[in-house]
Amino acid sequence: MKFLTILGATGSIGINTLEIIREHPTRFKVIALTAHDNIDLLFKQCLEFKPTYAVVSNKILSGSLQRRLRAESLKTEVLFGRDALERVSSLPEVDMVMAAIVGAAGLLPTLAAIKAKKQVLLANKEALIMAGPLFIKEAQQANIRLLPVDSEHNAIFQCMHGQVTLGSHCKNLKKIILTASGGALRDKSLKELSHATPQQACQHPNWCMGPKISVDSATLMNKGFEVIEAYFLFGLMLDQIEVVLHPQSIVHSFVEYRDGSVLAQLANPDMRIPISYVLAFPERIHNSVDSLDLLKIGRLDFLALDHERYPCLNLAYQALRIGGTATTILNAANEIAVQAFLDGKISFTDITRLNQDVLEKIHSRPMTDIHIIFEDDNLAREIAKEMILKHYSAFRNKNVVTQED
Ligand SMILES: NC(=O)c1ccc[n+]([C@@H]2O[C@H](COP(=O)([O-])OP(=O)(O)OC[C@H]3O[C@@H](n4cnc5c(N)ncnc54)[C@H](OP(=O)(O)O)[C@@H]3O)[C@@H](O)[C@H]2O)c1
Repeated sequence: MKFLTILGATGSIGINTLEIIREHPTRFKVIALTAHDNIDLLFKQCLEFKPTYAVVSNKILSGSLQRRLRAESLKTEVLFGRDALERVSSLPEVDMVMAAIVGAAGLLPTLAAIKAKKQVLLANKEALIMAGPLFIKEAQQANIRLLPVDSEHNAIFQCMHGQVTLGSHCKNLKKIILTASGGALRDKSLKELSHATPQQACQHPNWCMGPKISVDSATLMNKGFEVIEAYFLFGLMLDQIEVVLHPQSIVHSFVEYRDGSVLAQLANPDMRIPISYVLAFPERIHNSVDSLDLLKIGRLDFLALDHERYPCLNLAYQALRIGGTATTILNAANEIAVQAFLDGKISFTDITRLNQDVLEKIHSRPMTDIHIIFEDDNLAREIAKEMILKHYSAFRNKNVVTQED
């Protein structure tokens, strides 16, 4: 029996993780579940999985959830805040931590899990993007297993099975090829992109995901972040990481070895597959995902990327070339930009512009400690917000002009 904390239990990855756990009650036991503010769903999850702890972001919500659980005679203790997230990530009785909080908020609890030598199932890609070298160093020092949940890195991990050491270069490997679906807006004309709505950007053709990552898929910033993730996780050089467009999302990535052999992992686009893999590693367990029907799929296409359509991908390579906290800065700018887009304050195409402007405005510094990372993260957010004020009025004015026209 494995004992688990699920950080971000109410999100898309968290819900899929609980679905696998539900199918294997004798294999996994949930010790802690966390959410930001969705206490209705967290309440239902607590009723079903009866964790020892539940964590939410603030005191009022924790009081409210605690009362509802007590009324059901449930003994779950409700905690709140950042310290509580770190506490449930490092409990002695926990074996594995699913790190599935979205964004920068996931970094410290995931680091706490690493320091406490837990097996970390890493969905929160922002932790690696913000603090890759520090993060990998901590994991190497703790000598823990960091299993990638992101489908592309999970695919690479599967293809490199037995030959991969965390953060260190595999000498037999020539390159990896990440596949990208192209996101929800891939068939829109370049002109239409500036008018794309949050709803359109979140309607991913192949995957069902949270809003932030869906928008990141539409800009291809998500693929850029995956390039950064792969760079740190697998200790690669930049020219060893390629990206191709693969509209069907069936091949989740390729690994080419120095003898010319290319291995790929294929599966239906369903996060329950990589989640099952990391939960049971090194075994494989059943899940309810349909078998891959190759005859029904019929064909698999691979296309070159149009960099004019997806400029965010180049920003990721640019940030890695700059080095230091440039990836932290890019991640922070992008979180603010995506939220502003979802809130209707900036246009879809403003996301790239804002990311580029913030990246160019702030000098990156060596990632020597976590304080520098958070300082540059905060600075990038402040500058991004300031710029949005300008962009916001420009965006609103543009709309006004359009209406008057
Ligand atoms: N979804 C996918 O298919 C997928 C694939 C690969 C990688 N990932 C990565 O996995 C992570 C989770 O993605 P997701 O799609 O599951 O996101 P999501 O659906 O937006 O869920 C995010 C989770 O984090 C919680 N949360 C949000 N802000 C928080 C904060 N400030 N403090 C504490 N908890 C907070 C949310 O709680 P509330 O529900 O209460 O807001 C929710 O439980 C992301 O880093 C994403 O890039 C996701």
